[in-house]
Amino acid sequence: MLSSLALLATGLASLAQAQSQNSTFYNPVLPGWNSDPSCVTVPEWDFTTFCTTSSFLMFPGAPVYATKDLQHWKLASNALNRPEQLPELNLNQGNQNEGIWASTIRYREGVFYLITSYVQFYDWGPMILLFTTTDPYDDASWSQPLIIENPANDIDPDLFWDFDGTVYMSVAAGIYISEVDLETGAATDPIRVWNGTGDRNPEGPHIFHKDDYYYLLIGEGGTELNHSVTIARGESATGPYYGYENNPIQTARFTDWYFQTVGHADLFQDRNGNWWGASLATRSGPEWEIFPMGRETVLYAVTWEEGEWPILDPVYGEMTGPLPATNMDIPGDGHWITDPDEVDFEPGSSLPRHWGYWRPPHTDLFEVSPEDHPNTLRISPGSVNLTATADYVPAEDTLAFIARKQSATAFNFTVDVEFEPTLANEEAGITVFLTQLQHIDLSIVNLPACNGTRNIPRLRLRAEVSGKVDEVAPEEVLIPVPRSWRSAPIRLSAAAVTDTEYVFGAAPAARPEEYVELGTASARITSGGSGPFTGTIMGAYATNNGGQGETPAYFSRWRYHQVAQKIDHDTWIPV
Ligand SMILES: *[C@@H]1O[C@H](CO)[C@@H](O)[C@H](O)[C@H]1NC(C)=O
Ligand SMILES: *[C@@H]1O[C@H](CO)[C@@H](O)[C@H](O)[C@H]1NC(C)=O
Ligand SMILES: *[C@@H]1O[C@H](CO)[C@@H](O)[C@H](O)[C@H]1NC(C)=O
Ligand SMILES: *[C@@H]1O[C@H](CO)[C@@H](O)[C@H](O)[C@H]1NC(C)=O
Ligand SMILES: *[C@@H]1O[C@H](CO)[C@@H](O)[C@H](O)[C@H]1NC(C)=O
Ligand SMILES: *[C@@H]1O[C@H](CO)[C@@H](O)[C@H](O)[C@H]1NC(C)=O
Repeated sequence: MLSSLALLATGLASLAQAQSQNSTFYNPVLPGWNSDPSCVTVPEWDFTTFCTTSSFLMFPGAPVYATKDLQHWKLASNALNRPEQLPELNLNQGNQNEGIWASTIRYREGVFYLITSYVQFYDWGPMILLFTTTDPYDDASWSQPLIIENPANDIDPDLFWDFDGTVYMSVAAGIYISEVDLETGAATDPIRVWNGTGDRNPEGPHIFHKDDYYYLLIGEGGTELNHSVTIARGESATGPYYGYENNPIQTARFTDWYFQTVGHADLFQDRNGNWWGASLATRSGPEWEIFPMGRETVLYAVTWEEGEWPILDPVYGEMTGPLPATNMDIPGDGHWITDPDEVDFEPGSSLPRHWGYWRPPHTDLFEVSPEDHPNTLRISPGSVNLTATADYVPAEDTLAFIARKQSATAFNFTVDVEFEPTLANEEAGITVFLTQLQHIDLSIVNLPACNGTRNIPRLRLRAEVSGKVDEVAPEEVLIPVPRSWRSAPIRLSAAAVTDTEYVFGAAPAARPEEYVELGTASARITSGGSGPFTGTIMGAYATNNGGQGETPAYFSRWRYHQVAQKIDHDTWIPV
C-alpha cells in the first residue's frame, strides 16, 4: 500500500513536471546594481516570491522585490527606511563600500525575517541586524532591527529553522554556525562547519533541508571572475558537511560568456513546486573592464531530484525554464522594475520609493512641489559636492543628491532644471555616479567671468576619476549658458546608446530642438575601482561647493527611459 501510494505520488509529480512547459526569459531579472540576491516563496502570500539585494550606503536600503511569475518584478518595500533604524549609516568613515551587505530573507509563521550585516571598515566588526515584518508591502511595518550577537565576527548571515524549532545562523568565511535566540539576539559559540572546496572567500551561506539531508550552499572564489557556487550536505544542521564531488555547481570562470562573476546563490520553489535559483552576475564578458551596472540578479531553473544534488542551469542572457503563468497581481505602489520614470513632482506627491540617497539624507534639503515652484523638486545646495575630500564627514557635511539605479544598458535620462545662481561656485545638475570618487557630472555652475568682475553661469561636463587607478578623465567641457537659454528651465540629459559610453547634452526645456551635445565619457569611469561591489546610479544634485551660496535648484519633468539591454556579446533586446 505504502509503495503504491509512493508510486502514485511519483507519478503525479512526473506528470506535473511533464505538463509544465518551458518558456523563454531573459537575464538579468533584476537589472542594475542588485547583488547578493536572497529569495523566498511564500504560499500564504499567494506564492509570491520575495527577493532582497545588498544596498551598501543607499538609503532607503535592503529593498524587497516581489514577483508571482518570476518575470515581472515590483519593489515591495525597503526594510531599511528610517534613519533611526541604523544611525551608523551616517557615522561611517566615508569609505564607499560600507553599509548593508548581503542579506537573507526568510518567512516563518506569518513573519518575514530579513537578516543582514552592517559593515564599516574602521574596526571591521560587522553588526548583524534582523529586520522583521508581517507586511512586506509596507515600509513602516519593518521593525527596528534586533542586533544579533556575531561571535564569528563575520558577514553574510543566513537563518535556518530546524525541525525542533532551533534557529541556526550561519555566516562567512569558512562557514560558521551558531544557535540564535530571535527574542534576545543571543548567539552561541560558533562551530566551523565547512571551509568550502579550498577556494578563497567561502561566504554567502544558505541552509536548506530536503529529503534526508541538510544542504549548505555557499559562494567561493571571491565575487570577481573566479566566483562560483558550491554545495555540501550532511545529516544534521550543525554538520559534519561533506562537499559534493562535482563542485562547483555553478560558475562562469574560465569561460568567454558575457555574464561573468556568477555566484552567491539562493534557491527557492515556485507555486508549481519547480526549483529556481538566483545568483549575482556581471555583464562584462571575461575582459571585465566595463560593467557600470555592477553585480546584478540573474535567475535560472534548478533540477533537484529526490535525494540528489541540485543541478543549476548555467547563466546566459536568454534562458528557458518552466516559468509560472504570467501574473502581475502584486499590491502596493512600488515601482515595476522595467517601467520608466516619468515623474512630475505634483503637489502632494511623494518621491518614488525606488529612488534613494547616498546615506540617509538631510531631508530639509529636498522639497516636492514647494508653493512658489509647483511641480518641481526643490533641492537646496549641499555644503559638499559629489566628490568626497579627505576631510569629508558624512554626519556633518550635507550632500544634496537623489538618484535611481542605471537599470538598462541603453537609456535616456533627462531632467529639467531651473537655477538662477548668484554667488561663485553655486552648482546644480545631473550625475552618473558610482562613488564619491567616480562620477560624471553635467551641471550649471556659476563661475567668474575671465576678467573676474562678475559670475557667469556655465554648462560644465566633468568627471571625477580619483577612485580608479589609471583612469583618465575626459577633458572638462565648460561653455557659458547661452543668453537665450537663461531664466528658464534647461533640459539636461545623460544617455547611453552603446554599452561603453555615456552621451551628455542640454537644451532649453521649451525648445528641445536646440539640443547641444556637450560630450561623452567612458562607462569604464563608473565600473569597479572604489566601487567594486556597487553599481551606477544617476540623479540630480545641488551644491555650493563649500561656499556661501544658498540658491536652490528646481528640478522638474524627470524622465528615465530604459531603451535596451545587452544580454550577450552581440545581442540586444528592447526593454
Ligand atoms: C577549516 O580551516 C581551518 C583553518 O585552516 C581549520 O582549522 C578547520 O579545521 C577547517 N574546518 C573544517 C570544517 O574543515
Ligand atoms: C582566479 O583563479 C586563478 C587560478 O585559480 C588565480 O590565478 C587568480 O589569481 C584568481 N583571481 C582572483 C581575482 O582571485
Ligand atoms: C525545461 O527546462 C529545464 C530546466 O532548464 C530542463 O531541465 C528541462 O529539460 C526542460 N524541459 C524541456 C521539455 O525542454
Ligand atoms: C535623450 O533625450 C533628449 C531629450 O529628449 C534628446 O534630445 C537626446 O537626443 C536623447 N539622447 C540620446 C542619445 O538618445
Ligand atoms: C568683464 O566681462 C564681462 C562679460 O564678458 C563684461 O560684460 C564686462 O564688461 C567686463 N568688464 C570689464 C571691466 O572689462
Ligand atoms: C568640490 O568641493 C571641494 C571643496 O569641498 C572643492 O575643493 C572642489 O574644487 C569642488 N569640486 C568641483 C568640481 O567644483
